Amino acid sequence: MKFAVIGGTGRIGSEIVAALTTAGHEAAPHARSTGVDLLTGEGLALALAGVDAVVDATQSPTTDDASVDFFRAATGNLLTAAAEAGVRHAVLLSIVGVDRVPDLGYYRAKVFQEERFRTGPVPYSIVRAGQFFEYVEEIVSWTAAGDTVRLPTTLLQPVAAADAARAVAGIAAGSPVHGIRDVAGPDVFPLDELGRITLAARGDGRTVITDDTAGPFAAAAEDALTAGDGTHIAPTHYRDWLTG
Ligand SMILES: NC(=O)c1ccc[n+]([C@@H]2O[C@H](COP(=O)([O-])OP(=O)(O)OC[C@H]3O[C@@H](n4cnc5c(N)ncnc54)[C@H](OP(=O)(O)O)[C@@H]3O)[C@@H](O)[C@H]2O)c1
Repeated sequence: MKFAVIGGTGRIGSEIVAALTTAGHEAAPHARSTGVDLLTGEGLALALAGVDAVVDATQSPTTDDASVDFFRAATGNLLTAAAEAGVRHAVLLSIVGVDRVPDLGYYRAKVFQEERFRTGPVPYSIVRAGQFFEYVEEIVSWTAAGDTVRLPTTLLQPVAAADAARAVAGIAAGSPVHGIRDVAGPDVFPLDELGRITLAARGDGRTVITDDTAGPFAAAAEDALTAGDGTHIAPTHYRDWLTG
């Protein structure tokens, strides 16, 4: 099959391209750096010509309330162009529990993006992934100050980006599910513990202080971001990945 992966040069998009290619498909990565811009529509018609399925793994330039403007324009342009090109399946990468944290502007924007896929002109699948292992150090950096890092006890179920990408590739190669599929890692961690495990593995001497008001994930109820029944549980454990 022939795929276009928009955002295919990014952290997860490049893994999706690799997973599709390994599975024997033809998968082209697209992004502004390759001449495809979802905001202007530049390069989209060419990128989608003859494509069986398109995967949206783009990221907005900011993760605040302004991200809804990005996803409104970008998703509208993508789905219109995909319908015009006769693409039969549009796959969106989203986040586990995204509709359970209404106080986070970025999550509201992702819910809006999901809604555009649900009501759009192309048969769709939404894949919600847990936080990527590769993203944990960035989360820790948001609330770091001097020798301490403040993190809440919010539960996360992180997943290796490569595992999530394989799940996305499998769904993209199948029939549209017209709904949501969750993919998450095998372990659930309170975020403060995840921070301690990560810093220890990196030989980082900073201290994690439990603070249920610290950082954006404090806005999530304790188990809002863990996956439910029917989730595809990926094989890689975080501790093994850290030391691997
Ligand atoms: N981080 C997580 O833990 C996590 C978990 C679940 C789901 N997700 C979702 O995964 C998606 C991708 O995240 P990521 O961390 O892989 O992002 P990333 O590394 O920042 O990659 C973003 C990609 O989007 C492209 N892009 C940005 N603006 C574009 C535009 N106007 N037109 C076309 N391409 C554009 C970028 O390339 P150019 O800059 O060259 O355009 C890049 O290829 C996000 O939607 C996020 O919500 C993330």
